[in-house]
Formats: sequence, structure tokens, C-alpha cells
Amino acid sequence: MKKRYLLAPGPTPVAEEVSLRMAEPMVHHRTPQFSAIFAEAAEDAKYLFQTKQDVLILASTGTGGMEGCVTNLFSSGDKVLVINGGKFGERWGNISETYGLNVVWHKVEWGYAANPKDIESILNQDKEIKGILVQASETSTTAAQPIEALSKLTRDRDDILLVVDAITGLGVVNLPMDEWGIDAMVTGSQKALQLPPGLALVGLSEKAWKFADKSTCPHFYFDFKKERKNLANKTSAYTPAVSLVIGLREVLKNIREEGLDSVFKRHNRLARATRAAVEALGLQRIAPDSPADSATGFFVPDGVDGAKLVKSMRDDFGVTLAGGQDHWKGKVVRIAHLGYVDTFDVVIAISVIEMALTKFGAKVELGKGVAAAQKILLEGYQ
Ligand SMILES: Cc1ncc(COP(=O)(O)O)c(C=O)c1O
Repeated sequence: MKKRYLLAPGPTPVAEEVSLRMAEPMVHHRTPQFSAIFAEAAEDAKYLFQTKQDVLILASTGTGGMEGCVTNLFSSGDKVLVINGGKFGERWGNISETYGLNVVWHKVEWGYAANPKDIESILNQDKEIKGILVQASETSTTAAQPIEALSKLTRDRDDILLVVDAITGLGVVNLPMDEWGIDAMVTGSQKALQLPPGLALVGLSEKAWKFADKSTCPHFYFDFKKERKNLANKTSAYTPAVSLVIGLREVLKNIREEGLDSVFKRHNRLARATRAAVEALGLQRIAPDSPADSATGFFVPDGVDGAKLVKSMRDDFGVTLAGGQDHWKGKVVRIAHLGYVDTFDVVIAISVIEMALTKFGAKVELGKGVAAAQKILLEGYQ
């Protein structure tokens, strides 16, 4: 017998009560019964996004929400600045180039955040840039990007948008859309929303809706204006992911009940505990200066094959963590602490790392990381 634990940065664990609600008999989507659920979820999504604007609920993964932002807000030939500090930053650029946008690539070393001063000077030199496309949390490197500082560069200008992939940021850290002036924000269901994959949520500012009026990029399925019209009638343009929307309503109710401040505090406590554990074990963190609260990563010690380590943790120990992508394949391990996670998820993650590293011959003191984590985790009970 092997009990399995899922501690990768998406999909994340789903609470049993939510799974049970989603397993209830199917309802038809064009009914008053489902419309009420859809409208409630859309209303509670505004609380999560900290916005008065509509939040669109799309049947899609997060990438679909990103693509929709590009095709609904910009036009072929438009210049956009892409902050490329990892796999998902690169994705913003690839989507934009697919639709003929003129991408200014701003390369950031993996594991680091963009310097807002550099971005400011790029914007000062090039007034044609119509959008900054960035991640709140670059999951591939576990680095957080400086969204508040970037928002200060765009919020008072009506000719440029700040478009944020908050797929592992929203519901983890404070990203008050209206207060900061974020123009477009995307998330996906399988991260902090504690649901299976299959939903993308997108919030747009008034400025972004004005851009949408002018956009000439081709799009059909991801038609934000059409979705907004349908949302006003408590429905969506096409068949919604009914079960996921039912789950979304449950999760958003739970988040409201916990309160956003508590949600952020919980994630921060888990993140600090994980970081302290990794450091106590003498492991090198992959995002040293600007760590995200969604996941923590470290370089595997010399002589250890990271891919085999991750496989062993999953297959031998029963704990799924994530490895590295691209040039970090086999070199890093990423531990997620977002969504339906709490104290003992961190204890399990650190414990399996200690045990698996020991199995692979690395020098780590069993229990040292767990103890360091526990000291911080206790804050939640005092
Ligand atoms: C920051 C970020 N952006 C985009 C994506 C892509 O989302 P999806 O796989 O749901 O399309 C992910 C998924 O891991 C992510 O973490």
C-alpha cells in the first residue's frame, strides 16, 4: 500500500467536499438553477480579483486565458514588452508572435525578477509599447515579479496595459486589481483555486475594455466581449464546464469565508517555512532574492540526478513534487505550497526531500529541515 500526496505546482489537491459537489448529477447549463450558480461564482470571483469589473469564466486551461488576452486586447503589429524570466514568460512572447504582435523580449535571468527601473527606461525610450506582459509568479523558476512597481508605470497612461498571468499568483499573494490598476489578470482552476484543470478566469479593467474595442486580432472561441454580454445574462457564450463551475462556487465561498488576508498569510507562512527548511538543509534555493509564495525550488546537490530523485519521491515514496524545465531539467526540485494546502503538506514535502536525498547519497541531516519548518509553521497556532 502506498498513500499518495500531490505537492506539485498544479494540478494541486482538491478538497473532498468540493470533489463531492462536482460529482453530483449533471445539470443543464441553460437553466435558472445553473445560471444562479454561474452568477454566484462570477460575483465571488470579483472578491478574489479585488475588482468591481466583470470576471470572465472560460472553459479552458490558463494558457487559453493568456491567448484570449493577447487576441482581444491587441492587434497584429502592436508592440508589447514581454518579461521573459522563465517558461511562462516565454509563452507570453510565443502567443504574441503567433498573432503577429511585435514583441520586445526583456530577458531576465531564470530565478530572478525584472528590475522595474529597467522597464521604466525601456518604456521611456519606446512610447509605442502598448502592453507589458508578465507573470505574477513565474512557476518554472519560483520567482515573483514586481507587479505593484510595474503597475505604477502603466496605471496613469491610457495607451499601455499591464497584463498579468497570475495563474500561480492569484489567491496566493495580494494582487488588488483595481487598487493597483492591473489591466488584465488571468488565473487557472488547477492552482490556488483548488480545482481540477479546465477553467480560466480573466478580469479586465475599463482601460482594457477600451483596448478590446480597438483590437483587430482574429479570435473566435475566446471572444471576451461576447463572454461579457453573456455574463450579464448569467451564462457563457458556449457550454460552460458545468461541474468545474459548481466546484468554483464552493471554493470561492470557502475563500471568502477564510478571508483574503488569512489566505495570503497562510501561503506566506507555508512559503517561509519551506524556504527555511531548504536553507537549513544546506540546499541552494533557485529564486534567492524574489521568491514566490506559491512554490519553492532548490538545486539538487552535485552528484544527484534531479530527474531520478523526483521520480523516486513520486514512485517509491508516493509524494509528487516537480522537477525543473528546459535547462533546469534534472537540476532542480520544486515544492508547491499553494491552494488546498496547510501545515502538514509542508512537513511531508520537506520530510520526503530529506529521506530521498539520503537515499541518493546526499549529505543531509534527517529532521533538520522539518524542524526549521516546524518553528515557522507553529506561528499559525499561537
Ligand atoms: C505561471 C503560469 N502560467 C501559465 C501556465 C499554463 O497554464 P495551463 O497549463 O493551465 O495552460 C502555468 C501552469 O503551470 C503557470 O504556472
